Amino acid sequence: MTKPLFIRRASQLATLKGSSQKPLAGDQMKDLRIVEGGSLWIEDGVIISVGADEELAAKHRSQLQNAELIDADGCLVTPGLVDPHTHLVFAGTREDEFDMRLNGATYMEIMNSGGGIYATTKATQEASEELLYKESAARLDQFLLQGVTTVEAKSGYGLNLETELKQLRVAQRLQNEHAVDLVSTFMGAHAIPREYKENPDAFVDLIIHEMIPKVAELGLAEFNDVFCEHGVFTPAQSKRILEAGLDHGLHPKIHADEIEPYEGAELAAEVGAVSADHLLKASDKGIKRMAEKGVIATLLPGTAFFLMAESANGRKMIDTGVPVALSTDCNPGSSPTLSQQLIMNLGCVKMGMTPAEVLAAATINAAHAIKRGHLVGSLEEGKQADVVIFDLPNYKRLQYQYGVNHVKRVIKKGRTVVHQGRLV
Ligand code: NIG
Ligand code: FE
Repeated sequence: MTKPLFIRRASQLATLKGSSQKPLAGDQMKDLRIVEGGSLWIEDGVIISVGADEELAAKHRSQLQNAELIDADGCLVTPGLVDPHTHLVFAGTREDEFDMRLNGATYMEIMNSGGGIYATTKATQEASEELLYKESAARLDQFLLQGVTTVEAKSGYGLNLETELKQLRVAQRLQNEHAVDLVSTFMGAHAIPREYKENPDAFVDLIIHEMIPKVAELGLAEFNDVFCEHGVFTPAQSKRILEAGLDHGLHPKIHADEIEPYEGAELAAEVGAVSADHLLKASDKGIKRMAEKGVIATLLPGTAFFLMAESANGRKMIDTGVPVALSTDCNPGSSPTLSQQLIMNLGCVKMGMTPAEVLAAATINAAHAIKRGHLVGSLEEGKQADVVIFDLPNYKRLQYQYGVNHVKRVIKKGRTVVHQGRLV
């Protein structure tokens, strides 16, 4: 039995209470359920009480002597941040392509000439499982140092069964050994391998008949994602792949309308996807259909920023009633960032979201986007004690002072894992 943990008198305790069943939508995203001077009582990794300091001190009076105390005076306390869309497990980097893009080449041109996703696929196929683990764990450390306590990780740099499984095993090992919680997504449909260029449907068949059944049988993923994009997977192929995943218990996700409008948002609504991600070029009709079906829009403003494209219209999506989540899209090509805090700033500056909305998008809605809303993403009784203490007096300062890591302490399942800028 570890000691109870009492985090006391936060200048703002952003609880996001009351949203464990469903993501926040519309005006609900503005209400962070803040308790000023609020405190948290934690036992065995679980939040036991949340609220005014005096109330909690009275309620737990008999255990006070024995508790570990953390003074959060002057600090903002939030749920652990959640990143619901990353390509965490990969080998190699692509700074030369960044240079090519700055000299005028486009993302798709680079990919179609064998770079882009193909370059990372080659590096990932060639990398040992141990190297992949080490490099991914180092990235995960950075996420944690910046306040992220749950991360989704996709495969998709294998494009053959062996390497896809290798990536997913690395994610599984990280889930077992790293403090950050991982949620795995199979994304064999990330690109058409070059040897299938003349017959892409044969690769779709391989995904459907071999990869998905194997991944499901081994229990290596919960979600199934596809890059539905002109020149990659068509909406018809994407639909087949997502439906095949559903037949094997994998929940659908979709990289939708990123580079060109392709009715990806409409498809997400049609197949009942948990989330549609990117959506830079989503149609008004698609956004409306997502709102009707409750599909979460996972927006990735770091990708638009780094590809020098116009961001998705987060403002319009929220106003239409779509629940919005935010994510880094961490990957070596279109968004090599490891900072969910930077993404939150971009959410405000580039997508017209307010500081309250971006905090909701990076916590409870992000948790719902990976089906973890019942477990994390808010500070309420019974939930996992994943907590961030920021060295800031209020949540607006978090997005306002950008490009700085404001984390003072990170608590994961009731245990301090980051303190004073270091992993402990
Ligand atoms: O989400 N759009 C497709 N996939 C990734 C990029 C992958 C890469 O360039 O390596 C994305 O942006
Ligand atoms: Fe992505």
